[in-house]
Amino acid sequence: MDAREMKIKAAEAALAHVESGMRLGIGTGSTAEEFVRLLAEKVAGGFRVEGVPTSERTARLCVELGVPLKSLDELPALDLTIDGADEVDQALRLIKGGGGALLREKIVAAASERMIVIADESKLVETLGAFALPIEVNPFGLVSTRIAIDKVAARLGLSGELTLRQSGDGEFTTDGGHHIIDASFGRIPDAEALSSELNSIPGVVEHGLFINMAALAIIAGPAGARTLQKNR
Ligand code: A5P
Repeated sequence: MDAREMKIKAAEAALAHVESGMRLGIGTGSTAEEFVRLLAEKVAGGFRVEGVPTSERTARLCVELGVPLKSLDELPALDLTIDGADEVDQALRLIKGGGGALLREKIVAAASERMIVIADESKLVETLGAFALPIEVNPFGLVSTRIAIDKVAARLGLSGELTLRQSGDGEFTTDGGHHIIDASFGRIPDAEALSSELNSIPGVVEHGLFINMAALAIIAGPAGARTLQKNR
């Protein structure tokens, strides 16, 4: 089974948690896109959902495939969000933002009664941090913000390259008009402390540590999909 097949397995298993009539947060990334494709097939068969997309990219795919969409302002309280992740640990702490959508992803997940993460087993880790942590920053005062991130990291015994994410024609810009610094800290032993320290930096808009947000992770491997519950 290749990575794409595993993503489809995870997405299929997540679909079993979606009931007709639900208000659904719809994630971003290649795994979430497999979920959108499967959801669209069900919608074509008469299944009713209203989706709130976590990115312009996801919105475009939903429109193309006929998944009905609303804005988060129209549907401010959601039943369930299904989204991918870059890393998942056993406590269901996540690193997200590899696709640059972490701010909307976090806002949508926080507005949802439940969040289910879908991933192939390569995303499951002992300790978060091998994947560089995406930190969404305001373009104003970028140098000061980098210095502040470095200081926070040093206080917590972390170090590593802070790389301003690039796209073809310059700095990568998020749907919200911000930039992303990818922080290669390596192992992050205290994700909670890092999360709250980063949140205290004014130029940091949001970061990719999702803590206490996912209720369930569906992890697919060659043998099929298994679920991890919170607080195991
Ligand atoms: C998007 O910003 C991310 O948070 C994605 O959910 C994450 O990068 C997982 O993407 P893949 O499913 O493509 O690995």
